[in-house]
Amino acid sequence: MTLLLLPFSGSQDIAEKISSAGDFDVGELEVRRFPDGESYVRLRCDVSMRSIAIVSSMNNPDPKLAPLIFAAATARELGARRVGLIAPYLAYMRQDTRFRDGEAISAPIFARLLSGAFDWLVTVDPHLHRIGRMSDVYDIPAEALHAGPLLARWIGDSVTDPLLVGPDAESEQWVGAVANSVGAPYVVAQKRRLGDRHVEIQLPDTSRWKQRTPVVVDDIASSGRTLLEVAKLLQGRGMRDAVCTVIHGVFADQAFRELTRAFRMVATANTIQHPSNNIDVSGLIAPTAMRLGSGA
Ligand code: R5P
Repeated sequence: MTLLLLPFSGSQDIAEKISSAGDFDVGELEVRRFPDGESYVRLRCDVSMRSIAIVSSMNNPDPKLAPLIFAAATARELGARRVGLIAPYLAYMRQDTRFRDGEAISAPIFARLLSGAFDWLVTVDPHLHRIGRMSDVYDIPAEALHAGPLLARWIGDSVTDPLLVGPDAESEQWVGAVANSVGAPYVVAQKRRLGDRHVEIQLPDTSRWKQRTPVVVDDIASSGRTLLEVAKLLQGRGMRDAVCTVIHGVFADQAFRELTRAFRMVATANTIQHPSNNIDVSGLIAPTAMRLGSGA
Protein backbone atom coordinates (compact mmCIF):
# COMPACT_ATOMS: atom_id res chain seq x y z
CA MET A 1 0.00 0.00 0.00
CA THR A 2 1.49 3.36 -1.03
CA LEU A 3 2.03 5.57 2.02
CA LEU A 4 0.35 8.98 1.83
CA LEU A 5 2.48 11.77 3.31
CA LEU A 6 0.74 14.80 4.80
CA PRO A 7 3.32 17.50 5.54
CA PHE A 8 2.93 20.23 8.13
CA SER A 9 4.13 23.70 7.27
CA GLY A 10 7.93 23.81 7.48
CA SER A 11 8.24 20.13 6.60
CA GLN A 12 7.12 20.25 2.96
CA ASP A 13 10.67 20.20 1.57
CA ILE A 14 11.70 17.09 3.42
CA ALA A 15 8.34 15.43 2.65
CA GLU A 16 8.95 16.02 -1.08
CA LYS A 17 12.46 14.60 -0.77
CA ILE A 18 11.21 11.54 1.16
CA SER A 19 8.56 11.01 -1.49
CA SER A 20 11.22 11.07 -4.25
CA ALA A 21 13.21 8.44 -2.36
CA GLY A 22 10.46 5.76 -2.34
CA ASP A 23 6.88 4.79 -3.09
CA PHE A 24 4.77 7.61 -1.61
CA ASP A 25 1.93 9.96 -2.44
CA VAL A 26 1.91 13.48 -1.01
CA GLY A 27 -1.37 15.05 0.12
CA GLU A 28 -2.33 18.39 1.53
CA LEU A 29 -3.06 19.37 5.08
CA GLU A 30 -4.35 22.81 6.02
CA VAL A 31 -3.44 24.09 9.47
CA ARG A 32 -4.10 27.62 10.63
CA ARG A 33 -5.03 29.60 13.70
CA PHE A 34 -8.45 31.00 14.48
CA PRO A 35 -8.35 34.60 15.77
CA ASP A 36 -8.73 33.29 19.33
CA GLY A 37 -5.56 31.19 19.01
CA GLU A 38 -7.29 27.82 18.60
CA SER A 39 -6.16 25.58 15.74
CA TYR A 40 -8.07 24.84 12.54
CA VAL A 41 -7.11 21.60 10.78
CA ARG A 42 -8.42 20.28 7.47
CA LEU A 43 -7.29 17.22 5.51
CA ARG A 44 -7.47 18.33 1.89
CA CYS A 45 -7.20 14.84 0.41
CA ASP A 46 -8.95 11.48 0.68
CA VAL A 47 -7.44 9.32 3.42
CA SER A 48 -10.10 6.61 3.46
CA MET A 49 -8.53 3.11 3.60
CA ARG A 50 -5.06 4.68 3.24
CA SER A 51 -1.95 4.29 5.33
CA ILE A 52 -0.89 7.86 6.05
CA ALA A 53 2.01 9.63 7.76
CA ILE A 54 2.01 13.17 8.99
CA VAL A 55 5.41 14.74 8.38
CA SER A 56 6.29 17.31 11.00
CA SER A 57 9.60 18.30 12.41
CA MET A 58 8.93 19.00 16.07
CA ASN A 59 11.04 22.10 16.60
CA ASN A 60 8.89 24.76 18.28
CA PRO A 61 6.69 21.87 19.42
CA ASP A 62 3.97 23.45 21.55
CA PRO A 63 2.01 25.19 18.75
CA LYS A 64 2.27 22.02 16.64
CA LEU A 65 1.04 19.57 19.24
CA ALA A 66 -2.70 20.32 19.19
CA PRO A 67 -2.96 20.42 15.36
CA LEU A 68 -0.93 17.22 15.14
CA ILE A 69 -3.30 15.38 17.44
CA PHE A 70 -6.36 16.83 15.65
CA ALA A 71 -4.96 15.80 12.24
CA ALA A 72 -4.22 12.23 13.38
CA ALA A 73 -7.66 11.82 15.00
CA THR A 74 -9.40 13.28 11.93
CA ALA A 75 -7.52 10.92 9.60
CA ARG A 76 -8.79 7.97 11.67
CA GLU A 77 -12.38 9.30 11.68
CA LEU A 78 -12.16 9.63 7.90
CA GLY A 79 -11.13 6.01 7.50
CA ALA A 80 -7.30 5.97 7.46
CA ARG A 81 -6.12 2.44 8.26
CA ARG A 82 -2.76 3.40 9.75
CA VAL A 83 -1.60 6.79 10.98
CA GLY A 84 2.11 7.39 11.45
CA LEU A 85 4.30 10.33 12.33
CA ILE A 86 7.54 11.19 10.57
CA ALA A 87 9.23 13.65 12.92
CA PRO A 88 12.75 14.22 11.51
CA TYR A 89 13.46 16.19 14.70
CA LEU A 90 11.68 14.97 17.82
CA ALA A 91 11.22 17.41 20.69
CA TYR A 92 11.04 16.93 24.44
CA MET A 93 13.72 14.27 24.62
CA ARG A 94 16.01 16.26 26.91
CA GLN A 95 13.62 16.80 29.85
CA ASP A 96 14.16 13.25 30.98
CA THR A 97 14.62 13.65 34.71
CA ARG A 98 13.46 15.81 37.62
CA PHE A 99 16.41 18.04 38.50
CA ARG A 100 14.41 20.08 41.03
CA ASP A 101 11.30 19.32 43.09
CA GLY A 102 8.06 19.62 41.19
CA GLU A 103 9.53 19.75 37.69
CA ALA A 104 7.62 18.04 34.89
CA ILE A 105 9.54 15.15 33.34
CA SER A 106 8.25 16.17 29.94
CA ALA A 107 9.82 13.44 27.79
CA PRO A 108 7.55 10.54 28.88
CA ILE A 109 4.48 12.78 29.08
CA PHE A 110 5.03 14.01 25.51
CA ALA A 111 5.73 10.45 24.39
CA ARG A 112 2.44 9.25 25.92
CA LEU A 113 0.53 11.97 24.03
CA LEU A 114 2.09 10.99 20.69
CA SER A 115 1.75 7.27 21.41
CA GLY A 116 -1.99 7.81 21.96
CA ALA A 117 -2.42 9.59 18.63
CA PHE A 118 -0.20 7.62 16.23
CA ASP A 119 0.39 3.98 15.30
CA TRP A 120 4.10 4.45 14.65
CA LEU A 121 6.80 7.05 14.60
CA VAL A 122 10.16 7.50 12.93
CA THR A 123 12.74 10.12 13.82
CA VAL A 124 16.43 10.91 13.38
CA ASP A 125 18.88 10.95 16.28
CA PRO A 126 16.54 11.76 19.14
CA HIS A 127 18.42 12.92 22.23
CA LEU A 128 18.92 9.52 23.85
CA HIS A 129 20.97 10.02 26.95
CA ARG A 130 19.35 9.05 30.24
CA ILE A 131 16.53 7.61 28.10
CA GLY A 132 18.40 4.72 26.50
CA ARG A 133 15.87 3.58 23.90
CA MET A 134 12.75 5.01 22.30
CA SER A 135 10.76 2.08 23.70
CA ASP A 136 11.57 3.30 27.21
CA VAL A 137 9.08 6.14 26.68
CA TYR A 138 7.08 5.35 23.49
CA ASP A 139 4.39 2.63 23.54
CA ILE A 140 4.19 2.46 19.73
CA PRO A 141 6.83 1.25 17.26
CA ALA A 142 9.18 4.25 17.38
CA GLU A 143 12.37 4.03 15.38
CA ALA A 144 15.42 6.22 15.78
CA LEU A 145 17.59 6.50 12.66
CA HIS A 146 21.18 7.70 12.73
CA ALA A 147 22.57 10.51 10.62
CA GLY A 148 26.18 9.88 11.75
CA PRO A 149 27.27 8.20 8.48
CA LEU A 150 25.82 11.12 6.49
CA LEU A 151 27.68 13.61 8.69
CA ALA A 152 30.84 11.57 8.19
CA ARG A 153 30.38 11.66 4.41
CA TRP A 154 29.84 15.43 4.47
CA ILE A 155 32.94 16.01 6.62
CA GLY A 156 35.02 13.69 4.43
CA ASP A 157 33.91 15.57 1.29
CA SER A 158 34.12 19.11 2.70
CA VAL A 159 36.94 19.37 5.24
CA THR A 160 40.62 18.60 4.72
CA ASP A 161 42.47 17.08 7.71
CA PRO A 162 39.66 17.40 10.24
CA LEU A 163 39.96 17.02 14.01
CA LEU A 164 36.52 16.10 15.34
CA VAL A 165 35.46 17.75 18.56
CA GLY A 166 32.58 16.56 20.72
CA PRO A 167 31.35 19.28 23.07
CA ASP A 168 30.27 17.01 25.93
CA ALA A 169 30.41 13.44 27.20
CA GLU A 170 27.01 12.67 25.62
CA SER A 171 28.38 13.48 22.17
CA GLU A 172 31.10 10.82 22.36
CA GLN A 173 28.69 8.14 21.06
CA TRP A 174 28.37 9.75 17.62
CA VAL A 175 31.60 11.81 17.48
CA GLY A 176 33.68 8.66 17.98
CA ALA A 177 31.76 6.76 15.29
CA VAL A 178 31.87 9.68 12.83
CA ALA A 179 35.62 10.14 13.44
CA ASN A 180 36.24 6.45 12.77
CA SER A 181 34.35 6.61 9.46
CA VAL A 182 36.18 9.75 8.39
CA GLY A 183 39.51 8.31 9.56
CA ALA A 184 40.20 11.39 11.71
CA PRO A 185 41.24 11.87 15.34
CA TYR A 186 38.75 13.23 17.86
CA VAL A 187 38.58 14.82 21.29
CA VAL A 188 35.63 15.15 23.63
CA ALA A 189 35.14 18.14 25.94
CA GLN A 190 33.50 18.19 29.35
CA LYS A 191 30.44 20.37 29.77
CA ARG A 192 28.64 21.65 32.83
CA ARG A 193 25.27 23.25 32.21
CA LEU A 194 24.61 26.11 34.59
CA GLY A 195 21.41 27.39 32.97
CA ASP A 196 19.39 27.40 29.74
CA ARG A 197 21.93 29.72 28.12
CA HIS A 198 24.97 29.18 30.27
CA VAL A 199 27.45 26.32 29.96
CA GLU A 200 31.02 25.79 31.11
CA ILE A 201 33.27 23.75 28.84
CA GLN A 202 36.68 22.21 29.39
CA LEU A 203 38.51 21.16 26.24
CA PRO A 204 41.36 18.62 26.36
CA ASP A 205 44.80 19.40 24.97
CA THR A 206 44.74 19.73 21.16
CA SER A 207 48.33 20.91 20.58
CA ARG A 208 49.22 17.76 18.57
CA TRP A 209 46.62 18.70 15.98
CA LYS A 210 47.44 22.34 15.26
CA GLN A 211 47.56 21.68 11.52
CA ARG A 212 44.07 20.20 11.45
CA THR A 213 40.67 21.88 11.04
CA PRO A 214 38.49 21.46 14.13
CA VAL A 215 35.01 20.20 13.26
CA VAL A 216 32.67 20.46 16.22
CA VAL A 217 29.92 17.84 15.99
CA ASP A 218 26.75 17.93 18.08
CA ASP A 219 23.23 16.56 17.85
CA ILE A 220 21.37 19.80 18.61
CA ALA A 221 22.16 23.51 18.45
CA SER A 222 19.46 25.22 20.49
CA SER A 223 20.65 28.40 22.23
CA GLY A 224 24.00 27.72 20.51
CA ARG A 225 25.87 28.31 23.79
CA THR A 226 27.49 24.86 23.78
CA LEU A 227 29.01 25.33 20.33
CA LEU A 228 29.90 28.98 20.96
CA GLU A 229 31.84 28.10 24.11
CA VAL A 230 33.76 25.40 22.23
CA ALA A 231 34.49 27.85 19.39
CA LYS A 232 35.87 30.37 21.91
CA LEU A 233 38.23 27.79 23.41
CA LEU A 234 39.42 26.65 19.98
CA GLN A 235 40.10 30.23 18.87
CA GLY A 236 42.43 30.68 21.83
CA ARG A 237 44.54 27.74 20.64
CA GLY A 238 45.74 29.15 17.33
CA MET A 239 44.17 26.37 15.28
CA ARG A 240 42.68 26.64 11.80
CA ASP A 241 39.21 28.26 11.67
CA ALA A 242 36.70 25.77 12.99
CA VAL A 243 33.67 24.31 11.23
CA CYS A 244 30.62 23.00 13.00
CA THR A 245 28.17 20.36 11.93
CA VAL A 246 24.96 19.69 13.79
CA ILE A 247 22.17 17.25 13.10
CA HIS A 248 19.27 19.40 14.35
CA GLY A 249 19.64 23.15 13.87
CA VAL A 250 16.98 24.40 16.28
CA PHE A 251 18.72 27.81 16.47
CA ALA A 252 16.73 29.69 19.12
CA ASP A 253 16.71 33.49 18.79
CA GLN A 254 20.04 34.78 17.38
CA ALA A 255 21.89 31.49 17.73
CA PHE A 256 22.53 30.95 14.02
CA ARG A 257 23.87 34.47 13.48
CA GLU A 258 26.22 34.10 16.45
CA LEU A 259 27.40 30.69 15.25
CA THR A 260 28.17 31.96 11.74
CA ARG A 261 30.43 34.59 13.35
CA ALA A 262 32.22 31.99 15.46
CA PHE A 263 32.64 29.26 12.82
CA ARG A 264 33.93 29.30 9.26
CA MET A 265 30.92 27.19 8.32
CA VAL A 266 27.82 25.81 10.01
CA ALA A 267 26.30 22.73 8.36
CA THR A 268 23.10 21.03 9.47
CA ALA A 269 20.98 18.08 8.44
CA ASN A 270 17.58 18.88 6.93
CA THR A 271 15.68 17.46 9.92
CA ILE A 272 14.68 21.10 10.51
CA GLN A 273 14.31 23.23 7.38
CA HIS A 274 17.01 25.94 7.39
CA PRO A 275 19.41 27.65 4.93
CA SER A 276 22.31 25.80 6.62
CA ASN A 277 20.94 22.39 5.53
CA ASN A 278 23.75 20.53 3.77
CA ILE A 279 23.06 16.98 4.81
CA ASP A 280 19.98 15.26 3.41
CA VAL A 281 18.37 12.61 5.63
CA SER A 282 15.36 11.86 3.39
CA GLY A 283 16.98 8.72 1.91
CA LEU A 284 17.47 7.47 5.46
CA ILE A 285 13.84 8.02 6.45
CA ALA A 286 12.07 6.75 3.30
CA PRO A 287 12.59 2.96 3.63
CA THR A 288 11.74 2.92 7.36
CA ALA A 289 8.60 4.99 6.80
CA MET A 290 7.49 2.63 4.00
CA ARG A 291 8.05 -0.40 6.22
CA LEU A 292 6.27 1.07 9.27
CA GLY A 293 3.46 2.42 7.08
CA SER A 294 2.86 -1.05 5.64
CA GLY A 295 2.53 -2.50 9.15
CA ALA A 296 5.47 -4.86 8.62
C1 R5P B 1 22.94 18.43 25.06
O1 R5P B 1 23.06 17.57 25.79
C2 R5P B 1 22.93 18.37 23.56
O2 R5P B 1 23.72 17.34 23.07
C3 R5P B 1 23.38 19.70 23.01
O3 R5P B 1 24.74 19.90 23.31
C4 R5P B 1 22.57 20.80 23.58
O4 R5P B 1 21.22 20.51 23.43
C5 R5P B 1 22.89 22.13 22.93
O5 R5P B 1 22.10 23.12 23.54
P1 R5P B 1 22.52 24.64 23.43
O6 R5P B 1 22.69 24.97 21.97
O7 R5P B 1 21.36 25.38 24.05
O8 R5P B 1 23.78 24.81 24.21
